[in-house]
Amino acid sequence: MITDARAAFIDVAYLASAILFILGLKRLSSPATARHGNRLAMLAMTIAVGATFLDRSITWSPLNIGIILVGTVIGAAVGIYFARTVQMTAMPQMVALFNGMGGGTAAFVSVAEFSSLARAGTTIGAGEALSVAAGTAIGALSLTGSLIAFGKLQELISGRPIRFPGLSAINAVLFIAILALGTVLVGFNGGDLFVWLLLAVAMVLGVLVVLPIGGADMPVVIALLNSFTGIAAALTGFVVDNQILVVAGALVGASGGFLTVLMSRAMNRPLTNVLFGAFGSAAAGPAKAGEERPIRETTPEDAAVVMAYASEVIIVPGYGLAVAQAQHQIRELADELEKRGVRVRYAIHPVAGRMPGHMNVLLAEANVPYDQLFEMEQINNEFAHADVALVVGANDVVNPAARHDPSSPIYGMPILNVDQARTIIVLKRSMRPGFAGIENELFHNPKTVMLFGDAKESLVKLTNAVKSA
Ligand code: TAP
Repeated sequence: MITDARAAFIDVAYLASAILFILGLKRLSSPATARHGNRLAMLAMTIAVGATFLDRSITWSPLNIGIILVGTVIGAAVGIYFARTVQMTAMPQMVALFNGMGGGTAAFVSVAEFSSLARAGTTIGAGEALSVAAGTAIGALSLTGSLIAFGKLQELISGRPIRFPGLSAINAVLFIAILALGTVLVGFNGGDLFVWLLLAVAMVLGVLVVLPIGGADMPVVIALLNSFTGIAAALTGFVVDNQILVVAGALVGASGGFLTVLMSRAMNRPLTNVLFGAFGSAAAGPAKAGEERPIRETTPEDAAVVMAYASEVIIVPGYGLAVAQAQHQIRELADELEKRGVRVRYAIHPVAGRMPGHMNVLLAEANVPYDQLFEMEQINNEFAHADVALVVGANDVVNPAARHDPSSPIYGMPILNVDQARTIIVLKRSMRPGFAGIENELFHNPKTVMLFGDAKESLVKLTNAVKSA
């Protein structure tokens, strides 16, 4: 029995936690405040979990306490281990795994609640049955879809789109089956067998929907599934009558949805193209057309002289910086240039790398001052005045074809105007293309020089050469 005072305390705790979640999210929007945002969200979650223990009127038997403690310790240990050891480049798959667990939890809690009510003979209203049906379907789809996304990114299964004849028809049948099972649950008081069937069908659909999407598109898929998990959690909040789960789920659902739209927009690709067009699936092959076109190679010594005597250098980091884990070396080079009076700034493209904020996180790891980081809109007009644009492991986000070649798959994607700089120095290992699998005419620009090699090694050589220039 929950007393009035206890109920009031729980309500206030949930309200405080909801406000902290919102403030935390707000602060995550800038690298300067993101750590603080994370701490606020941690505090919000601690309050929410504490209040839920009071709210649920748990019988404090040794068995119950034991189950809660064991679950908490195992969950926390796994979370801490992965958070501390995961490589930056493996972050998308970690998010996929955690997201899948969230979706699965929402689905199983809905199913368990429905089953226990149905077995106790309690009449389940249409509204509650609708929440159960939708929460189960969306959560289950998110669970298995996220596991497939994880498998593709971790290379446990092929990253190539996996299709087979009749796949679309099977998916359509599964979708109709989900609608039919939902209708039986909501409109005809279907028993718990139907909710288990719904769970199973949605889990199969999650696998079959994600299999045909190319591995390189997984970050967008993960953001979408993240939004699904949030929606499923909010629906489960209605089922178990827990307001904070509704609020937190709605926040995750909305932010995941916004992120999906922003990522698709920044790539200039409609979401349907990400989900149903196998873009990027051929990204591994070498560029075919134009390989005979001339390029100019440079040495670390020559490139260092150009930078050491420049007054403005704009650094453009890309996915290759993350692969090479060269964030500390880039900072050292920038420090060395600044000592010589060169103004150094970083231009951050919204989809550089493979996940939102990828470059910001990498550069923050090396303590690059935030006031040196500029978003694309802020810095794009500055390239025309820069002496050097130093492109470190970026490719698609600096490809001028996006501006003028309607036949290019990235046509229309906003890019960084590095080709307007006086000299462009490109650090990469070979002439292989980037994510979109297309050739980059920037590398053949007469103002461009290529310094081939792993970005980390090239940056060390460049820094040493700047020191002695
Ligand atoms: P990419 O176009 O993928 O190019 C990365 C370049 O880095 C490659 O050309 C590669 O050339 C080079 N590289 C790889 N390892 C390297 C190393 N160890 N040292 C030096 N260079 C290395 O990267 P980008 O310009 O950052 O563009 C990102 C792409 O990903 C865009 O097409 C975007 O649409 C897509 N995408 C982004 C996201 C998000 S949210 N960021 C999500 C999904 C898709 P070599 O192999 O020759 O070295």
